[in-house]
Order: sequence, then structure tokens, then C-alpha cells
Amino acid sequence: MIKVGVIGYGYWGPNLARNLADTDGVEVTAIADGRPERRAAAARRHPGTTLVGDAAELLARDDLDAVAIATPLHTHCALATAAIERGKHVLVEKPLAASTRDAESLGELAEKRGVRLMVDHTFVYTGAVRAIRGLVDSGQLGDLLYLDSVRVNLGLFQPDSNVIWDLATHDLSIMDYLVDARPVAVSADGTALAGFDRENVAYVTVHFDSGFLAHFHVNWLAPVKIRQMLLGGRQRMLVYDDTDPSEKVRVYDKGVDFDADFRVDDDQTRRQILVSYRTGDMHAPKLDRREALALVAQEFADAIAQRRAPLTDAAAGVRVVRLLEAADQSLRSQGQRIRV
Ligand SMILES: NC(=O)c1ccc[n+]([C@@H]2O[C@H](COP(=O)([O-])OP(=O)(O)OC[C@H]3O[C@@H](n4cnc5c(N)ncnc54)[C@H](O)[C@@H]3O)[C@@H](O)[C@H]2O)c1
Repeated sequence: MIKVGVIGYGYWGPNLARNLADTDGVEVTAIADGRPERRAAAARRHPGTTLVGDAAELLARDDLDAVAIATPLHTHCALATAAIERGKHVLVEKPLAASTRDAESLGELAEKRGVRLMVDHTFVYTGAVRAIRGLVDSGQLGDLLYLDSVRVNLGLFQPDSNVIWDLATHDLSIMDYLVDARPVAVSADGTALAGFDRENVAYVTVHFDSGFLAHFHVNWLAPVKIRQMLLGGRQRMLVYDDTDPSEKVRVYDKGVDFDADFRVDDDQTRRQILVSYRTGDMHAPKLDRREALALVAQEFADAIAQRRAPLTDAAAGVRVVRLLEAADQSLRSQGQRIRV
């Protein structure tokens, strides 16, 4: 039995605690939250679990094998460091840490202490994103051309991060999982509107050497919730709409072929002949509908039991934080491209 302590029982912590408790071979032994009303909520949901107010008290327990951290971003590094130093396996909420240096040092420390460090890049575990990875692997999309993502809604504002660190983290982690090529630069524009002191509307572009281009639009001030991603390939293109209840992923047998060798004198004829559009069928693959966090919890337990790196390991966490940090740096320098 893997005995886990959960730190942070605010908005997201209850989801993590519930899914860990539902995982075979895992027991949620203790929960820490500084707020009495959150401890009361945890007591109702997890009778028999020890509740403490202070994370340090939970971390000091010898009966815990692992710790799951669902506290605000600025606390991740210190809490995860303390847990790893006490020899505990750690699952940290996204983003892994507030800086690349902190994220890297967590990865190095976990390596040194021989414990598993996993980051909850939840979307990587959704049926939709795993199905898209399957389409990429099978070659059905062909060479990837671009990724274009929109994730906008009204609030929930995170007090200690801007909209890029809160929302774009999801899309960057999806890109990190789907695209094998590694980015070379990041540029970003953003603005803090309506009296907010952190950017709440932002546009992030991630550049690759191959010409593949990824763009992310995130916004906390949108009147509607949009969760849409386009992934274009040479053979097929797809739309991933996370708000669609039945057909989240639609694969279009559409594409453009260029006949670069064809030569004619008249420019207009040339263009018409050189570009041929393919429009075939659309299909929506059947998706695994299990809750992503159930798979996150299972992966954490399996990685501990099998003494192997989890799918979303420290390296994945570092790669995403590096892009977030570069986006922030670009924001502060008028959208300059920052090499990563
Ligand atoms: N994976 C996802 O889809 C997803 C969704 C939402 C939030 N998150 C992440 O989860 C984390 C928490 O976000 P949230 O929205 O739940 O925040 P929140 O503020 O609602 O909850 C955090 C809780 O942690 C408690 N806490 C903070 N420091 C503590 C300490 N030292 N000891 C004990 N308790 C402490 C607070 O009292 C609070 O109840 C963030 O990293 C966020 O990015 C992930």
C-alpha cells in the first residue's frame, strides 16, 4: 500500500485526493490545509484520514511514502524539496515550479534521493490528447505543420500567476507531449487589463527550427469558454474542442499539395495549378472517457511501484516551465524572441 499525504485542499486538491483514494494500492493517509473550513470539507469526504493545518506537520510523518502537492505555484518548490529530502515520492500540481532553476533543482534532488517526481500535466492523460498522440504516431496526420490553440474564459484568476502560467501551461504541456521536435524560441505579447496587476490576456508563439509553429491565445476576460486546438499535418488536420461533449476530436482528411516543379508563364494559372486542395471525409475517433486525474493517480502509483520515471516526469515539468519563463521574459521586452 502506498501511503500518500495531500497538501492543499482548496479548489484542485479535492480532485487529486479523491482520485488518489480511488486508486488500487493507494491510501490517502493525511491531508494538510491551513484553512479550517477546507479541513472540515476534507474530513467529510475522507473519514479516517488524519487532517493537519500545517504542511510541515504532514511532511514530518514517517508513515507517508508519497506526497501530492496542490498548493499555489509559489509554494511548490519549497514543499516538494522538503518532501523529497524526507525520501518521499512527489506529485506536484502544474506548473512544476515558478522558475526553470527551481524546476531543475527539484528534478536533480529527486534523482539524487532516488524518489519519483511527477508533475500533474492533467491534459496529457485525457482520452482526447492520448488519441491525438496515437494519430501522430500512426503517421495519419503526416508531418506536423502547426498547432494553434485558444483557451479563454472569465476567471478563475490565480493570485500568484498571470494567465500564461495558469492557462497556457495546459496547452504547452499538450504540445510537449504531442510534438517530438523541441522548441528553439518563444515570443509573447500580453496585457493586464481592467485594474489587474498581472497579464490577463496574452498571445504566445513557440518557434521551432523545422518551421513548425505553435500559437497560444489565453484570456481570463472572455465572455465564453473556448478550449480549441488545431493541429495541422501534411496528410490530415484535426480540431480538438474540449468543450464538445460528444466529438472532442475531429480529424479532417483535408490538405494542400504543392507541385513545386510545375512551370507555366502566366502567374495566375501557375498558382491554380501548383496548389491542389484535398477535401475528404471527417471522422471523430472514439475516446477513452475515463477521468484524466484517475490516470494521473494510477501513473503516479505505477511509477512508484515499478521504480520508473512517470510519463510526465521532472524533465517534462522543466521543459514547460522553461517555455513559461521565456514567455514572461518576452512580455517584459516588447515581444522579443527569447531563445530556449
Ligand atoms: N491540473 C489542473 O487542471 C489544475 C486546475 C486547477 C489548479 N491547478 C493547480 O493546483 C494548484 C492549486 O490551485 P488551486 O486553484 O486549488 O488553489 P487554491 O488556492 O484554491 O487551494 C490551495 C490550498 O492550499 C492551501 N495551502 C497553501 N499553502 C499551504 C501550506 N503550506 N500548508 C497547508 N495548506 C496550504 C490553502 O489553504 C488552499 O486551501 C496550483 O498549482 C494550480 O496551478 C491545477
